[in-house]
Amino acid sequence: MNVLIIGSGGREHAIAWKLAQSKKVEKIYAAPGNGGIAELAECVNLAVTDIQGCLNFAKENKIDLTVVGPEVPLVMGMVDAFEKEGLKVFGPNQECAQFEGSKAFTKEFLMRHQIPTAKYKEYDDYDTVLKDLGVFGYPMVIKADGLAAGKGVLIVEDEKAARDGLEMMMKDRVFGDAADKIVIEEFLTGREASMLCFVDGKTIVPMESAQDYKRAYDNDQGLNTGGMGTYSPNILFDDDVLNQRIQKEILDPIIAGFVKDQMDFKGILFIGLMIEDGNPKVLEFNVRFGDPETQSVLMRLDSDLYDIMESVINGRLSENPIKWKKEAAVCVVMASGGYPGDYQKGKRISGIEKVNDCIVFHAGTKIVDGELVTNGGRVLCVTALGDTIEDARKTVYDNIVNISFEGAEYRHDIAKL
Ligand SMILES: Nc1ncnc2c1ncn2[C@@H]1O[C@H](COP(=O)(O)OP(=O)(O)O)[C@@H](O)[C@H]1O
Ligand SMILES: [Mg+2]
Repeated sequence: MNVLIIGSGGREHAIAWKLAQSKKVEKIYAAPGNGGIAELAECVNLAVTDIQGCLNFAKENKIDLTVVGPEVPLVMGMVDAFEKEGLKVFGPNQECAQFEGSKAFTKEFLMRHQIPTAKYKEYDDYDTVLKDLGVFGYPMVIKADGLAAGKGVLIVEDEKAARDGLEMMMKDRVFGDAADKIVIEEFLTGREASMLCFVDGKTIVPMESAQDYKRAYDNDQGLNTGGMGTYSPNILFDDDVLNQRIQKEILDPIIAGFVKDQMDFKGILFIGLMIEDGNPKVLEFNVRFGDPETQSVLMRLDSDLYDIMESVINGRLSENPIKWKKEAAVCVVMASGGYPGDYQKGKRISGIEKVNDCIVFHAGTKIVDGELVTNGGRVLCVTALGDTIEDARKTVYDNIVNISFEGAEYRHDIAKL
């Protein structure tokens, strides 16, 4: 089979790495891919938003399966475009991608199906929301409805900050159309966790759990990032009562809601949760693999990912149980100096060949004149398995010191339990 992977991050490298292990997969292409993916796949210079270009490429190259990694093409309707031409594609259609493309759409779904979540209100008019400042008290959570590359949520402490934030979103239009509508929410406290699930329209199957680290710098001292590391399994889910409650109060009603609303959700559902005193509530949905959760989780997947993707598309997920490795996994992200603020690109990367017992997934790299250089904020994801989380952690940190590029930064406390 020929596979086309849409995307260029560590997540897509991990997907390519896992699919390459399938006996059924002969050739992998990636659009646009990166310096690491290029070792497994033929990278083609097409943007993830170039739906027509990707579609033409898939037809011309007899692609049997296209896997869409990032949210933007999903929300744009890439899956619908492929399906319309009779091509097999992994990911939710445009209707279902609204679960990531619109916070209000998700909140309405959660309310309709009585799934626990923060109280909320939605607005499309600046003057109306001003009348409601602090309706849920402070801190107040303000969210741009649409896609904002992880920057569209503000948590403000008082009325002045709320006014400033709303003005920035709705008057200055810093997030453009994404804040044409906004959602305000009750502030939840507790521990945050996420779950990645395979969904085939009628069955939802959670993957092994992972914990991510969102902030830069050790002990969460830096700003929010796309993710600085993960480990799997997440010790927070080492709790049968909690897992049963999540199944009964969240997963079961989600899938029943999809069926009832006649939404044929197929692909990955990422559920963001806040858990307080054993009570799980949904913070948000994403409709694709999380990055860098995927790097840890796919390292632990024993089953064939191509088979799973096919069974998702065919609505046969319940027929074969998914197998996972017993080992734990740890992933540490090496980032460019300054990330998530300004950083430089094009720095030469050396020493990857000295790394043992790890898989180095590339997030932001490219090959220039035969040399591997940095090409993004997050550059590499050094990932290892171990009998325990501590073993996997040791392998990663013993090896990461071999890799260098100017300004490289990484956290030293990932999976330090
Ligand atoms: N209702 C809430 N109460 C407390 N914190 C929240 C709430 N909603 C979101 N957050 C915090 O803001 C972060 C981003 O919000 P989220 O809804 O996940 O949006 P996105 O990932 O699209 O930016 C969450 O990871 C969480 O830390
Ligand atoms: Mg989120």
